[in-house]
Formats: sequence, C-alpha cells, structure tokens
Amino acid sequence: MAKRIGILTAGGDAPGLNAAIRGFGRAAIGEHGMKLLGFRSGFRGLLENDFIELKSSSLSGILTVGGTVLGTSRDKVHRMMVDGETRNVTKEIAKVYEKNKLDALVTLGGGGTAKNALRLQKAGLNVLHLPKTIDNDIWGTDDSFGFSTALEIATDAVDRLHSTAHSHHRIILVEIMGHKAGWLALGAGIAGGADVILIPEIPYSLDKVVEKINHRRSHGKHFSVVAVAEGAMDMEYAQRLKVADQLIAAADSPETKALAKQSKAQLEDSHREHTFTLARRLEAATGLETRVTILGYVQRGGTPVAADRLLATRLGTVGAQAVADGKFGMMVATKGGETGLIPLEKVAGKVKFVPTDHEWVHAARAVETGLGN
Ligand code: F6P
Repeated sequence: MAKRIGILTAGGDAPGLNAAIRGFGRAAIGEHGMKLLGFRSGFRGLLENDFIELKSSSLSGILTVGGTVLGTSRDKVHRMMVDGETRNVTKEIAKVYEKNKLDALVTLGGGGTAKNALRLQKAGLNVLHLPKTIDNDIWGTDDSFGFSTALEIATDAVDRLHSTAHSHHRIILVEIMGHKAGWLALGAGIAGGADVILIPEIPYSLDKVVEKINHRRSHGKHFSVVAVAEGAMDMEYAQRLKVADQLIAAADSPETKALAKQSKAQLEDSHREHTFTLARRLEAATGLETRVTILGYVQRGGTPVAADRLLATRLGTVGAQAVADGKFGMMVATKGGETGLIPLEKVAGKVKFVPTDHEWVHAARAVETGLGN
C-alpha cells in the first residue's frame, strides 16, 4: 500500500517554501508512489485535521511563487492557544496522525519548527524536517531556503539607500531582519557596501560608529549607510542581557525563574526600537541628519531567487528519499555543498550565530567597513 505522508509549513514564511513542497511532493508521489496530505496553517492544521490531498497536478505552477500555499502559523505543539486556553496538544496531534494512517510527517520550518518536530518525534510520530529561514540561523546546516532571496532584497535596499543618503548628506540606518543572528545584515551590508554593519554577535560602541562616520567626513564623504541587524545591540545592553541570562540560570525556584524571565522580557521589550534610538544618538553626536529605513516583511515576500528554488528542490527531493528509506527524527541539511541528514536531537534548541572570526567578518573589516567595535 502507498505510504501516506503529511506535510506542513510552520514559523515565518520564506521564499522557497513552495519550491520545497513541490520538490518533496513530486518526488514523493512520482518517484516513490506515496500519497501526500498537505496540512494547513502549520501545526494548527494538524490539530484541526485540516488538510488537502496534494496531487502532482496541484503542485504545478508553484515553484516560483512566494509564501506558502499551505499557509503557516507560529503555533507550538506543547503550548497552543485553543478555545481561549494554552495547552499541550501533542497527544491530540498524535491521534490525528494515527486517524489519517500517516506513515510520516514532513515539517518545513526554522529552528522553532525543528523543536516542535522533535517533540512530535518523541511522541511516536515519524518526522522529517526541512530547513527554511531567511535568517540562516538553523544550527547543523550551512544553508536554509529563503536566505538567498532575502539577501538579494536587503542588498538591493542598501544599494538604493546609498544614492539618497549621498544626495542629502545624511546618515541612513537600514534595519535588516535576522532575529538574533546577524547573517542577513552582514551579508547584505558587505554585498551592498554599507559603511558600518552592526550585528548582535559583535556588540557595538557608539563612539566607534561615530568615529567611523567622522573619519568618512574628514575624507569628503558627508553621508553614511549603516546596516543594522534587528538584533544588534550596544555593549551596555549586551552586558545587561548577559546579567539577565545569568539570573535566569541561577534561579533556584520556579518563582524566581519566572521573575527573572519576566525581567529579561521587559529588558528585551525596551530594546525593540533600538534602531531609532541609535539614529537619535548618531544625529546628536555627528550633527548629520539621520534617517531610518526598516525593511521588515518586504524581505520575506515575493518570488524566490534561483539559488533558493534550487536549494529547496534539492532538499525536498532528498527528503522524499529519506522518507522512502524510513529515516526519521532527522533534518535534511547541507554541508560543504553536499546534502545529508542530521538528527533533530542535535539541531533543536541551538542557534547558528555568526562566529566572530567568520570569513565574512574578516572580509568586512578588510574592505574597511566599520563593525562598531
Ligand atoms: O524568522 C524570520 C523572521 O522574519 C525574523 O527575521 C524576524 O525576527 C521574525 O521572523 C518576525 O516574526 P513574525 O513574522 O512573527 O513577526
């Protein structure tokens, strides 16, 4: 009998999700004779048994389309809001899996989705994960689809901001996504020739940023473009965050832990608009008019670039082979240009940050880009 496979997309959407659904689906149905059920809106669709059967014909025309035809959500299996209360729905999801006589579930998502995939694997489901994120922060894989497209969009923005910053003799801060990692800002900053790049992994000093901008002015350049990762932070905030984490780690009761977590959440909340704060501080310190551009969701929208279509198709088809071979509890990953499988146990709960000695960091410094430290 044909194997019955469920597939869903979870977490923030990213260009290349449809290419991966198509890649997995075409190979699963065509090469391996499987039946494919597409669950809507991430893990919620699985809980609500909301699916459509995906046939090869329904996978036509989606390769180049942005977003996800299945819809997505940030719902977590161990803490889902249902009928006004938050509860662990892992067992209920396992029942839906059984009811549909599924042989496996394929999840397409980022680090958070990998954690949910592992929870379901531990609950007895056969799960395979494909890495998607514009942030490039999934541990255990060199690549994730979505990143290349977002990199193109952010680079284009940095390019365009140069001419207006130049014309008006302004500092322009461009805030680039990436969650707590700096890959996207660093990549787009280098490719777009930003004058300063600020990433979370390298906390900055305001004085150093000002120094760089004033140095440019002394050489006749009365404008600067600063690529700011959404998670970027100055040294003082980085220190406060470190203390907040230490307090959580040192908490000796659930109550003190909850309080420590609450105070960290407040600290993070106060940091939400840091790019605007930085803009005000730079304007005051340099006397140059300063503007902010938040790229936001534009970075996740629209058609995937060729690199993401290719990667998503590769990961999808390798994933179908893994399911056919009965390899579960795994994520399909790339390393040095090759694809392979890595256990979810090794991936879940970790974040791939930019190593401070990474080649991209050296390259940025070598071309005299300020990194704020
Ligand atoms: O993970 C992708 C991402 O776009 C991050 O870069 C960003 O921090 C986050 O999602 C935004 O999340 P949401 O879509 O829930 O607003």
